[in-house]
Amino acid sequence: MIYKFETLASTSDYLKENFNKYNEFDVIRANLQTKGRSRRGNTWYSNEGMALFTFYIENIKNLLIMPILIGYSVLRAIEDITNIDLFFKWTNDVYLNNKKLLGILCENVDNKLFVGIGINVNNNVHENVKDIAISLKEYTKKEFDIDEIINKIINNVKKLNNENIDNIIDYLNKKNYLYNKKISIKIGNKKIDAIAKNISNDGRLEIITNDNEKILLGIGEIFEK
Ligand code: BTN
Repeated sequence: MIYKFETLASTSDYLKENFNKYNEFDVIRANLQTKGRSRRGNTWYSNEGMALFTFYIENIKNLLIMPILIGYSVLRAIEDITNIDLFFKWTNDVYLNNKKLLGILCENVDNKLFVGIGINVNNNVHENVKDIAISLKEYTKKEFDIDEIINKIINNVKKLNNENIDNIIDYLNKKNYLYNKKISIKIGNKKIDAIAKNISNDGRLEIITNDNEKILLGIGEIFEK
């Protein structure tokens, strides 16, 4: 069920405060957000025409791999609806034409995973991010049905329990945006230069450092060079 709001500060903040009024997989959707949040406490610029929504999932068995599985569900849903070839940027960004198409914010509170998603669908991207972000409309010159996209994503997430994780990771490795790219990662205060490789079956990113050391990355921040 999709619950629609004209304007909310943030669909994720709203659902976290009001989750007891809603069921697992109910969707809170807003046309506009006044305080949209992205990861690491940054602002998510929320324009009209974006898909802006949040839902929650209960009883998560493997929290660490969830961002990857959600990213996969979103990527497949949009590929199926638009027939566009998308790329997956570990841990859970989806890229189109070398630009960011959407953002996913996974927050674990009291054993529930709140999944907030912002997709550039029928909007033009905000001035401040137009060099690094793109919308489906800007790319295809067409408009899309946002509820259809949301419903497909929710169905894909519900199906995850029956899917084989190895197949999901194989699919994502074919679409691995970072593969062979130079990256630098920050672990604590330390910055390491490396080349990104495949995503491993447990959802970590394999990297080869400049000192030829192989590391499986579970946390940290990735910057492309
Ligand atoms: C990111 O790329 O860092 C994640 C961005 C997540 C944005 C969405 S929009 C709907 C939901 N409400 C928020 O305040 N944030 C998420």
